[in-house]
Amino acid sequence: MNSEEKALIVQEAIENRRTYRKFLDEKVPSKLMSTILESAKWSPNHRNTEPWRFISISKFSKKRILISDAVKKLSIETSKNPNPKTKLNSAEKSKLEILESPELIYAFSIPGNSNEITQENYASTCISIQNMALVSYFFDISISWSTGKPTKISNLNEILEVPNEWNIVGALYIGFSKKPMNQINVSRENHSEYTTWF
Ligand SMILES: Cc1cc2nc3c(=O)[nH]c(=O)nc-3n(C[C@H](O)[C@H](O)[C@H](O)COP(=O)(O)O)c2cc1C
Repeated sequence: MNSEEKALIVQEAIENRRTYRKFLDEKVPSKLMSTILESAKWSPNHRNTEPWRFISISKFSKKRILISDAVKKLSIETSKNPNPKTKLNSAEKSKLEILESPELIYAFSIPGNSNEITQENYASTCISIQNMALVSYFFDISISWSTGKPTKISNLNEILEVPNEWNIVGALYIGFSKKPMNQINVSRENHSEYTTWF
């Protein structure tokens, strides 16, 4: 394979990876989850300190149920919808999304010795998530990154039994995509729209 062919393979995953939360009702085999998680560690990071941490919450586990109930509660509390029935339906939907996601992984970054390093650690963990999403793409697995309610439930770190100092980076809904990701249409601007040359 020549360089251009290799670049095209990487490019294909970068362009076609999508955030898509409709999954087949199928567990991602543990070996495949390990392959995906192994890709996380190749992010550039401050002095090779490997500042990312992942917490996997199995489907049907007590913690998954606890989180889904907390998301439902938070959804009801924060909803601005005046219609109680709509409010409840929407909260129930958020709860189901948590319960039904084939895999659910929380991504955290650990703090550094300064604000600057803490910020770098957060950046590295974001890259780790993207690494995972790109590898997943080739297995028709979508990783849907959320910084919404599942990351905002109260006592999240306590529920997940992680130190309070860890910074949440996202909740990742993971599963085999119901639809091929390259069939989900999105468009992006040409790079000339966001690049300045001097
Ligand atoms: C830091 C971060 C937080 C995100 N949080 C959410 C979220 O809370 N809910 C959601 O539906 N999507 C979330 N997304 C996914 C974006 O909505 C998605 O990346 C965007 O719509 C572009 O689609 P694409 O990923 O398919 O290219 C998040 C993405 C990032 C990078």
